[in-house]
Amino acid sequence: MRRRRLYEGKAKILYEGPEPGTIVQYFKDDATAFNAQKKGTITGKGVLNNRISEYLMTRLAEIGVPTHFIRRLNMREQLVREVEIVPLEIIVRNLAAGSFAQRFKVEEGTALPRPIIEYCYKNDELGDPLVAEEHIAAFGWATAQDLDDIIQLTMRINDFLSGLFIGIGLKLVDFKIEFGRLWDNDEMRIVLADEISPDSCRLWDLKTNEKMDKDRFRRDLGGVEEAYQEVARRLGVLPEAGPSDAPAPQTIQ
Ligand SMILES: Nc1ncnc2c1ncn2[C@@H]1O[C@H](COP(=O)(O)OP(=O)(O)O)[C@@H](O)[C@H]1O
Ligand SMILES: [Mg+2]
Repeated sequence: MRRRRLYEGKAKILYEGPEPGTIVQYFKDDATAFNAQKKGTITGKGVLNNRISEYLMTRLAEIGVPTHFIRRLNMREQLVREVEIVPLEIIVRNLAAGSFAQRFKVEEGTALPRPIIEYCYKNDELGDPLVAEEHIAAFGWATAQDLDDIIQLTMRINDFLSGLFIGIGLKLVDFKIEFGRLWDNDEMRIVLADEISPDSCRLWDLKTNEKMDKDRFRRDLGGVEEAYQEVARRLGVLPEAGPSDAPAPQTIQ
């Protein structure tokens, strides 16, 4: 089956969907870090992120968070609504880690007094620079109303996901999400888009503080595939057969 490829990013490929206004997200095993200076592959990551993102977006939709997700198509692909991506990475931090810990010289794992939302301008050439609300308004990346919706949704997503992950013994240290604009007739809605997965979240084991996310790849900690599998397993979405396994033949009594 031939279909038009719309975009190839670092972790996913977008194809034209079967109906107008839909696209297919194909999840690759490719991994990048530090603005794509570090490149590699994480075997089976695409299969797992497809499932994990499906699960989390479905749970979020149940509490009334609008998302782009329609349905999973197969091991590596999901059908989503095509949106106009707001060119911002919305970062939520519950504990200090990564670039935040470096910027303010605070120890990784320090609890923040309240969740902190940061914005980066999505632009690979510029290395996704940190921006303020002033820049967002001045450059017109989002209106005041868009940003208000984004902040309200982001706080609900953080509260809900923090609790969901605590329930499976994981701390949601921080995460990155993207939003898009979706039109029904003349009405525009801001919806959650892209993905939520161990590529875009920092997840630490509640008891041991072991890292269970892309930091294992970034920092060469080993056990990368196993960490993604463990997150999927705890969420109850680990595919029973391995990525390349064919279904076993049915036995007839
Ligand atoms: N529903 C959607 N409609 C249109 N674009 C989307 C949607 N969801 C995600 N995207 C965009 O598709 C791309 C996904 O591929 P990815 O490999 O993550 O790209 P990148 O290298 O830009 O991060 C991202 O640029 C993301 O903003
Ligand atoms: Mg991306």
